[in-house]
Amino acid sequence: MADSIERGLLRSLSQYPAKDETPHIGTTFTDPSTQLSAILNAPDSDEQLRDLARLVSERGVVFFKAQDLKIADQLKLADRLGKLSGKPESSGLHIHPISESTPEFGPEVSVISSMGGIARADVVEGQRASAGWHADITFEKVPSDYAILKIHTLPKVGGDTLWASGYEAYDRLSPAFKRFLEGLTAVHNADFFNAYAKANGLKIQELRGSPLNKGEDLTAVHPVIRTHPVTGYKTLFVNRSFTTRILELTPDESADVLQHLFRHVAENHDLQVRYRWGKDDVAIWDNRATFHTATLDYGNADRQGDRAVSIGEVPYFDEKSKGRREALGL
Ligand SMILES: [Fe+2]
Repeated sequence: MADSIERGLLRSLSQYPAKDETPHIGTTFTDPSTQLSAILNAPDSDEQLRDLARLVSERGVVFFKAQDLKIADQLKLADRLGKLSGKPESSGLHIHPISESTPEFGPEVSVISSMGGIARADVVEGQRASAGWHADITFEKVPSDYAILKIHTLPKVGGDTLWASGYEAYDRLSPAFKRFLEGLTAVHNADFFNAYAKANGLKIQELRGSPLNKGEDLTAVHPVIRTHPVTGYKTLFVNRSFTTRILELTPDESADVLQHLFRHVAENHDLQVRYRWGKDDVAIWDNRATFHTATLDYGNADRQGDRAVSIGEVPYFDEKSKGRREALGL
């Protein structure tokens, strides 16, 4: 059984077989008869979904096998996880700035496809695969809490996704380096989506899940170390795709420190989990406490899925909060 369920925190989920994928990140509900569609409609669905949100926030990413979840329910699920775990009323579901409108699904669904769109917008030929590590949409003033991806079309082999733990990345820094980073703030920027939109004749989506996420300004300033509102743990909150500058440092200092932190996430494979998808599997992750990256190793094969991204709260740092290891006594 998964450790955080076993610890008795999440009683309503103990009825479903689950196992942890690694000590630091990732839990899988192993039985395909565990269906999110049933949890959504259970008489005690609020309790189960609140526990699921807490599990995702504890473990970073949670996997469900062979799901019959429909897109409309995937959107409902994304919103309820956040609402039941305390996000502000004004936060809804994200609309990606360059989401090509897919009328049958609506703008809150990002179609993740090997054939084009956001999954391909930032692919640069010849770059190291590790260049792709990111948390979703951190360029927004109010970034994401939870994201849900269902992959329905898979290549014969390949197309794995990797996640890394921001809690563990923080916990592994030296005490002196932790103190140095706490209280610093960083710029997150996605002007490359503006460039992509211009080049492809798309219009940037005006309102994106919060009254604060609007217009063509795809820039935000967030704490380098943030406190997770659900678990209370400190987590690293800079990522290679969107974080461009630590404001309190000189440009050279900032570049070197960020480089170190990006390598810290990408090169410590013992704080990561790699998931090999099965058809219709669903991953739910917490964008506040994890990073992830796609694996583009499947050439021109078809790989497609649907993603819903929920908007959380404005990131903050509480200096009285603890790291995960300290809080759990690990
Ligand atoms: Fe992503």
